[in-house]
Amino acid sequence: MSGLYERLRGASEAIARLTGRDRHDIVMVLGSGLGGYPDKFSGAVAVPYTEIPGFPIPGAVGHAGTAYSVECGDNRVLMLSGRVHAYEGYPADVITFAVRTAVLAGCRTVVLTNASGGCGEDIQPGDLVVITDHINLAGMSPLRGDNDERLGPRFPDMTDVYTPALRDQAHAAASEVGVNLREGVYLWWHGPMFETPAEIRMAIALGASLVGMSTVPEATAARHMGADVLAISLCTNRAAGLAGRKITAEEVIESADEASDRFQALFDALLPRL
Ligand code: HPA
Repeated sequence: MSGLYERLRGASEAIARLTGRDRHDIVMVLGSGLGGYPDKFSGAVAVPYTEIPGFPIPGAVGHAGTAYSVECGDNRVLMLSGRVHAYEGYPADVITFAVRTAVLAGCRTVVLTNASGGCGEDIQPGDLVVITDHINLAGMSPLRGDNDERLGPRFPDMTDVYTPALRDQAHAAASEVGVNLREGVYLWWHGPMFETPAEIRMAIALGASLVGMSTVPEATAARHMGADVLAISLCTNRAAGLAGRKITAEEVIESADEASDRFQALFDALLPRL
């Protein structure tokens, strides 16, 4: 099998051919609650992941597995509806393949969205939260193994994984549309089990406000490649032990669906600003 770089090139050429567009500026990964967002855009060109060589096919509910090429103001946005997770058994290089492909295809801005549990005092179910930083407790890194300097440096700096100027734009867009946008540190465990209350007490002690099962590998790979990253999380539930009841996957999906209109309104205002 050829190396990662060659496989990424192959996938990026396939996207250009299948969308008929050789340039994209922004890639947006659509997490829970945003899967239907591309339907809003007339002229969106849809490409199933099955037609893009190397793209892994998502198995999680609400993660379709379709890439959409969308025109949004002056920006051409590649919307990825469907991601794969570590809990599905994928290694980190597979989890990050789609985002790396988009960055190689020219997307210098990476927008990541997800659903999370809230453990910060000020974070409640339904809140949208700009991720300011992350803690990787999954014991996995997409940068482990041989490094290809064409993608990025061996030891990339992770001081500002989430670009401050993009976070400012997110706040400006949120004020414009009257959406309350919070800030917090996101802690990644690979799941698929929700955390224990003791783990959540540890997350709080470490300074996390959100816990979740995605985003950190994609953000890390995107920064490795020098792209700017913005990540916005939807808190779907108070994290384990904080709400006095058990967490279910159904409440996570329901809560994501309920917040969908607000999440979309935020991005309607934000995407043209990026
Ligand atoms: N923990 C981890 N991931 C999540 C949660 C949670 O409580 N809610 C939504 N995704």
